[in-house]
Amino acid sequence: MNITDKFSRKLRDVRISVTDRCNFRCSYCMPKEIYDSNYKFFRKTEILSFEEIIRLTKILALLGVKKVRLTGGEPLLRKNIHLLISHLKEIRGITDISMTTNGVLLTEKKAKLLKGSGLNRLTVSLDTLNPENFHKISGSKYSPLDVLSGIDNAKNAGFQNIKVNMVVKKNVNHEDIIPMLDNFKNTGCIVRFIEFMDVGNVNFWNKDDVTSLEDILNIISEKYHIKPLEKNYNSEVAKRWSYQGGEFGVISSISNPFCGDCSRIRLTAEGKLFTCLFANKSHDIKGLIRSSESDDKIKNYLVDMWSDRDDKYSETRIVDGKYKIIKKAEMSYIGG
Ligand code: GTP
Ligand code: 5AD
Ligand code: SF4
Ligand code: SF4
Repeated sequence: MNITDKFSRKLRDVRISVTDRCNFRCSYCMPKEIYDSNYKFFRKTEILSFEEIIRLTKILALLGVKKVRLTGGEPLLRKNIHLLISHLKEIRGITDISMTTNGVLLTEKKAKLLKGSGLNRLTVSLDTLNPENFHKISGSKYSPLDVLSGIDNAKNAGFQNIKVNMVVKKNVNHEDIIPMLDNFKNTGCIVRFIEFMDVGNVNFWNKDDVTSLEDILNIISEKYHIKPLEKNYNSEVAKRWSYQGGEFGVISSISNPFCGDCSRIRLTAEGKLFTCLFANKSHDIKGLIRSSESDDKIKNYLVDMWSDRDDKYSETRIVDGKYKIIKKAEMSYIGG
């Protein structure tokens, strides 16, 4: 079954946040001052169980969802995540399962378990190769070498074309763009430069901190000869280029929004559904799942929810020349 929203966009992908916790405190996502020892993360009973996630994904698959991306917080903090993946893998209609992780928990053993469970694709976040800068940005005890070793373990376990996400902030890490491309040249990894987005309310987003698509391409062109590549699939968020060394991508939600073909729904760890990364309203699916509602009733609820969808935040965030200020869900909660 295919369902469409108010702008005829199909429902195709679900991003599932499996935990709101993270072992990093990236300044643009979970600033230390807010996510400190007093911060109340969800308790185990508050978050969806694997069974609940599987049940909901089965219903979503009936409505046309084909791709599942597991996110967090840090998804590898969720115990036995490979078991969830192996069950998701069996759902009829689900053809692609991926994960976005900060990479430091990708031990040899974990990487093998993930591969064995049927995880198709891995994306690892890495904002800089400079240890001091890494420490500052990630607010963690780890070093870029820990992330690189996670990537190596994943490669050795058989993951190919691993994507490496770098959120670029002006005067913070824009000088790391070339070192990142140099480092991942001819490795099969695909670096993606992400414009710093105005997600949530706690990261003090300012447009002057954004290194735009144009800036990024100008920086890269000073060293590399680049050529645009075709999209891989319809609702792909990254634009792609080739360079001498492989391929890279840019995700430009600020300067070049991609709401037109957005087919993504988001599920938080505590069981709320969001029809947009920037939505300020959510749907309590856990309530439905934990009541004795039938799958059919939940399915009908989802059909109505998607039919009502008219989100296009990235295309409408500027009103009268000013960026809208609205209350939004935090990145570590909604999962990116
Ligand atoms: P694939 O294309 O399937 O590889 O995944 P992806 O690139 O969509 O997933 P990933 O988790 O790596 O996200 C990369 C960046 O794109 C992150 O900064 C996300 O927050 C952002 N992103 C993903 N989906 C959307 C979206 O629907 N809207 C906006 N504005 N940003 C998104
Ligand atoms: N803007 C852009 N990307 C972000 N991410 C987290 N916060 C932001 C933000 N404000 C990235 C993470 C991860 C992905 C899920 O989203 O670095 O790679
Ligand atoms: Fe953790 Fe990723 Fe957020 Fe950094 S961006 S704090 S690694 S969830
Ligand atoms: Fe989709 Fe909302 Fe992102 Fe636009 S801003 S691409 S509608 S999630």
